[in-house]
Amino acid sequence: MEFKKKILCIGAGYVGGPTMAVIALKCPEYRVDVVDISKERIDAWNSSSLPIYEPGLQEIVEDRRGKNLFFTTEVEKNIKNADIIFVSVNTPTKTFGEGAGMASDLQYWESTAHQIVKFAESDKIIVEKSTLPVRTAEAMERILKTHNGNIKFEVVSNPEFLAEGTAIKDLLEPDRVLIGAHKTQEGRKASKEIADIYKHWIPKRKIITTNLWSSELSKLIANAFLAQRISSINSISALCEKTDADISEIAHAIGSDSRIGEKFLQTSVGFGGSCFKKDILNLVYIAKSYGLYEVADYWESVVKMNEYQKSRFVRKIIKEMFNTVAGKKITLFGFSFKADTGDTRESPAIDITKALLNENAKVTIHDPKALKNAKLDLKDFDKDIIYDTDPYKAAEDANAIVITTEWSQFKELDYSIIFDSMKKPAFIFDGRNILDHNKLFDMGFNVYPTGKKQLTHFS
Ligand code: UDX
Ligand code: ADP
Repeated sequence: MEFKKKILCIGAGYVGGPTMAVIALKCPEYRVDVVDISKERIDAWNSSSLPIYEPGLQEIVEDRRGKNLFFTTEVEKNIKNADIIFVSVNTPTKTFGEGAGMASDLQYWESTAHQIVKFAESDKIIVEKSTLPVRTAEAMERILKTHNGNIKFEVVSNPEFLAEGTAIKDLLEPDRVLIGAHKTQEGRKASKEIADIYKHWIPKRKIITTNLWSSELSKLIANAFLAQRISSINSISALCEKTDADISEIAHAIGSDSRIGEKFLQTSVGFGGSCFKKDILNLVYIAKSYGLYEVADYWESVVKMNEYQKSRFVRKIIKEMFNTVAGKKITLFGFSFKADTGDTRESPAIDITKALLNENAKVTIHDPKALKNAKLDLKDFDKDIIYDTDPYKAAEDANAIVITTEWSQFKELDYSIIFDSMKKPAFIFDGRNILDHNKLFDMGFNVYPTGKKQLTHFS
């Protein structure tokens, strides 16, 4: 079949894979190739066991694979043939040199730019899909200009806003699609070509076009604002615990103001995930690099508040358990950074576990999907931790249950069985406020919600 357009995506990761699957689904007249340097990843995309789990993804991949969606390691041929190249490689936080721990590590991204220069033989639109520091396109353009042929490259920014667990829904029904391009004739033409892809299934009014730099920066700012809301509500949860105000009531009361809105006001043990901390620290680094120290401090405080919420939670556990957890069995319910995923990147449970181990507690971890990753995250502490796939067994003889992830399964458990099997006094620390606290109290638990009055049997 002759395809109308050839799209290539470099990087078959969390963003590239699902995004390209949905484009292939909605644009059957386009050929979509996805390449990756990892053969293992490509083999997995070509198998019945995909490298990532997202509801609805498997069905779409199986529908389009081999028709207009192809996963391959053949970079050279595909760069040569492509009209549009999405760059979707990883941009982790730098772990070395200047900006270590804050700036983005752009080595994978830069090597992609060099590969494009090496193999391109015709004009192309290059689309930045990865989250990048503002003005990265400028560097991309400089590298692309080193091409010695008479080829035109137009760089466009089209960041992805999908969240884990809802990737396919977010791609099929996004709040908006953002396309940033130069305000030149070529830039506008490229922007329109990218918009034409999305117009196959997204209403025109949801496609926002901006200049290149606004688009690059908007991605970081969207994540910074979302994380800021969580840090804001978490900061108030600390105040609630001192004043008997109730954080859920406050979230509802303020969220009912349409200017504030109700989403992302769920108090927690802190936010995790691969994006929020990384993107804010990147924003902080960028602000500092322009000499904007007050701006940098302002955003850094969002991450500091998140660290505070995690350590405050652990301090509360220790204090309430008579100032020592040494030798006590503490069972964590949940290890993933949020429910419905096995992903544990930057999960608050990692720091909470390490802090408890540091206090010589005996930690048991139960999670419906994340135990494999938990073992990798905590491999240095292997002999001190028990992992259990059965929540009831995990809770046996425990002094305390600690809810670290909001899995709905945890709401369905029979806590009277759990209570009977635990050491007394039995403690429960609900870091996500998902349980029925009054019911637990009536069973005999000493209950410590987050940002709400504690319910204890101690006089
Ligand atoms: C996030 C953004 O939502 C997404 O748009 C972006 O593309 C990538 O980063 P993700 O990391 O998958 O997505 O998860 P998200 O659902 O945003 O949750 C992030 C963290 O915040 C989780 O640890 C979650 O538990 C926590 N959270 C979220 C809260 O603590 N309270 C809330 O109200 C919402
Ligand atoms: P994201 O969450 O941004 O999608 P991932 O780490 O899940 O990030 O995926 C990025 C993918 O990019 C990885 O599979 C990695 O192997 C791939 N990658 C990195 N550099 C290159 C490159 N030069 N060419 C092809 N693929 C690359």
